[in-house]
Amino acid sequence: MKRFLALMLAVVLFLLPFSVSATEDTPVIRSGSGESPKIALTFDDGPHPRQTDRILDLLAEYNIHATFFVIGQNAVYYPEPLKRAVSLGHEIGNHTFRHEGISKMSAPMLEKELADTEKVILDLTGVKVSLFRPPEGACSEAVLAAARHAEYPVILWTVDTRDWDLASTDKIVSTVESKVRGGSIVLFHDYTARTAHTLDALKILIPKLLDEGYEFVTVSELLGGE
Ligand code: NI
Repeated sequence: MKRFLALMLAVVLFLLPFSVSATEDTPVIRSGSGESPKIALTFDDGPHPRQTDRILDLLAEYNIHATFFVIGQNAVYYPEPLKRAVSLGHEIGNHTFRHEGISKMSAPMLEKELADTEKVILDLTGVKVSLFRPPEGACSEAVLAAARHAEYPVILWTVDTRDWDLASTDKIVSTVESKVRGGSIVLFHDYTARTAHTLDALKILIPKLLDEGYEFVTVSELLGGE
């Protein structure tokens, strides 16, 4: 009996650190390691038939892959640009179903937001998403619990271009130029209610950053490939 108890104790002690890290830690990621000149362009709040398509056209010109954090509801309205993004090799992440009122939601409500979005993306594209960006970068306990439940790491950003705040083309360009480093995750939007300067800024930034030796990768490539 003593031997049995000792064995059980050994098993419990062996398992404990792993179960703790699996259930209580949600990775919150703001950048890659920066050991190489890889950077990840990310686009939130789409898909949108005009704005997303124009960005996809530009990325295709340079054969660049990016990561799109999709709102489930928008994917229902506009499935075509989402399908096109997947067919062009871009990565898709979860950005909740409705995007609104996230900070007031309980963990179970957020879990449903994530599950509904995951299902829409899977049904439309066959892709099971594995990354999550909370709207506004909100990292409440409920958000982290929902991310843990869905087994998503939380992906924030290194550089906020403030395109969502209608920053000018010049301002977006100078923000990125002054802050970008190897390993950076850069936040843009492929849907904004009023016209943003995202596309014009990207037309200037992409060739500049390529000239400076940066390599554009998806978030998963940034985190796994260094
Ligand atoms: Ni958003």
